[in-house]
Amino acid sequence: MEILKLIKDRYSTVLFSSEPVENERLSLLFEAARWAPSAFNEQPWRFIIGIKGNDEKYEKLLTCLVEGNKYWAKYAPVLVLVVTKKNYTHNSLINNSAMYDAGLAVGNLLVQATRSGLFVHQMGGYNREIARNEFNIPVNYSPIAIMAIGYKGNSEDFPKELQDREKRIRIRKPYNDMFEFD
Ligand SMILES: Cc1cc2nc3c(=O)[nH]c(=O)nc-3n(C[C@H](O)[C@H](O)[C@H](O)COP(=O)(O)O)c2cc1C
Repeated sequence: MEILKLIKDRYSTVLFSSEPVENERLSLLFEAARWAPSAFNEQPWRFIIGIKGNDEKYEKLLTCLVEGNKYWAKYAPVLVLVVTKKNYTHNSLINNSAMYDAGLAVGNLLVQATRSGLFVHQMGGYNREIARNEFNIPVNYSPIAIMAIGYKGNSEDFPKELQDREKRIRIRKPYNDMFEFD
């Protein structure tokens, strides 16, 4: 028995093709995210989508990134900031599941992306304060991660450093570590 091919085939590429992502295909990623489960069905996730060449949002998202991420993410045609609402809408109380729910939504998006031949590389390496200011994110929303989205490019079109990074062996902790505290 094997895990789903869609889970196995996903990985965080650093070789993004500049080929644009069709609007319909991109929309499908967010439709997949929309159907994620969430505490009280709050659906606290929000997405700020920047498409290269479309508007200033892409450039703004790029400027938020730390240099190490900008180095490879600048090739991606789409950048998305994931934000979550920190309080419940029905009673204003803190939603302790807000991050978890947003992660579930992105998990759906990742599966759909792989199915659509797209790659997604998430980044925590960006300046949250700049992001908050640039996009006027209200105080009761938290910026979580920026995702680079696109098709994979041809290895030979990229700097050697990125070609080498792409070839790195992907590793995971041993299976049993998931069930123990260290
Ligand atoms: C929330 C989050 C933040 C991440 N931040 C970065 C980042 O700033 N830069 C980067 O190159 N990769 C980043 N990654 C990618 C991880 O390093 C990567 O998912 C992990 O090494 C496993 O590799 P895989 O996605 O290819 O399976 C991030 C991933 C997640 C989920």
